[in-house]
Amino acid sequence: MFLRRKQHEQIILDITAIDKRVIARKKQMLDSVFVQQLVQMRSSTRDKTQPILSLELFKHLQFVLDDPKYSTIWGDDTTKKHILEDASTITLPAVLVDELNWMLHFDYLYYHSLTVALLVAALSLQIFPDQGQRQRAIFSALTHDVGITRIPKSILNKPGTLNPQEFQLIRQHPTYSYLLLAYYFQDVDNVFARTAHVHHENALGTGYPRGIEQTDTIAQMIQICDIYDALRSARPFRPAMSNEEALQVLQGDVGKGKLNSEIYTLLLALVQAETPDMHVSS
Ligand SMILES: [Fe+2]
Repeated sequence: MFLRRKQHEQIILDITAIDKRVIARKKQMLDSVFVQQLVQMRSSTRDKTQPILSLELFKHLQFVLDDPKYSTIWGDDTTKKHILEDASTITLPAVLVDELNWMLHFDYLYYHSLTVALLVAALSLQIFPDQGQRQRAIFSALTHDVGITRIPKSILNKPGTLNPQEFQLIRQHPTYSYLLLAYYFQDVDNVFARTAHVHHENALGTGYPRGIEQTDTIAQMIQICDIYDALRSARPFRPAMSNEEALQVLQGDVGKGKLNSEIYTLLLALVQAETPDMHVSS
């Protein structure tokens, strides 16, 4: 996969794993030699895994399903039941449980990731007949943004416009997710790491961090659900958008060919029952 890379990435920040070990240094080039060294840095002892049902995280997923923000999406009890059934079968390595818990320090990120995972779970019910694929999609959605917590909060929560350096840093967060997941799974080609790396790329090759053409269905599902929930949420730099406003933005990106139109159509069907003036400020 690295030979097909359009541009070589240079890591902007020192990146530290959850155990405080520095796994990538500032100015390191993300080449195949480096990533091989990265995955060998970790001890070969297998991580303990935890069933999601035993975690607070599962209660939080149920909490999000009961949140009035998207009550009309989850209003259908059968959909809710199937989403929870799929989510309940997931097991997470302990280190990723720690990473997700770390997201709680960043107000918006934790519940945003859970919401994206639930939206992806709802779309997966329509896209993937196989439960294994649906589990993979939910797991990917839960973990795709773990790297963003390595960016300073002052930048993530900046109310004004980002300067070019800050903007560049934000655009490298998929790479930080890739580094962390590849390191934890000790696999340069780990499926969750690869999906996280491309979740902001697009079919036109105009996304980031690498500007490569992206055709990974799960990454495309995450991308659309991510943008939708981000737009519907209040951020330090803008208020929450209404359902209609958010869909207009998505529709614009679908029109330009940046987002997958079939996945967008499925999301549209899911959210169209929302009342037009529903506007959430949290
Ligand atoms: Fe992201």
